[in-house]
Amino acid sequence: MKEEKVRLLFVCLGNICRSPSAEAVMKRLVKDAGLGDRIEIDSAGITGYHEGDRADSRMRAHAARRGYKLDSVSRPVCTEDFFDFDLIIGMDNRNIDDLKRKAPDLESVEKIHQMTEYSRNKLYDHVPDPYYSGAEGFELVLDLLEDACAGLLDELVQFISSNPDN
Ligand code: 4NP
Repeated sequence: MKEEKVRLLFVCLGNICRSPSAEAVMKRLVKDAGLGDRIEIDSAGITGYHEGDRADSRMRAHAARRGYKLDSVSRPVCTEDFFDFDLIIGMDNRNIDDLKRKAPDLESVEKIHQMTEYSRNKLYDHVPDPYYSGAEGFELVLDLLEDACAGLLDELVQFISSNPDN
């Protein structure tokens, strides 16, 4: 039987700081785990204000210091995303509320999760918006994402090993 992929969509407000970073962190973890053919990863924004833009240059610089290359191009979430992805993961409560408002049906609402649900370190209940912060805000985003993405990968590995044909 054909192996189905698990499809993840990371979402933040502008799709230029947090969700592109989550995409890059998760892609590296998935690649290192040898699961690149089982897990598909993308990111999007609640707004289209930055549509077509590369990730924020400050975010790219901080990510590059940890070896991540942010190569996504900003796009807004669309209705099709709720059908195409299995997990839609927002960064803060506002993202979650906005995603719920955009969800076309109840099945779609069930796909919406908050990034920090997967954190091992429970110090933060959301990934704070770094846009108006200094360097420490961007470093915090990366710290929180590295922790939460590792927790998310653990859950996906368990799911994939208990559903080999899924
Ligand atoms: P992000 O950060 O949601 O993590 O991409 C932001 C990017 C842009 C703005 C706010 C947050 N903005 O106000 O333009």
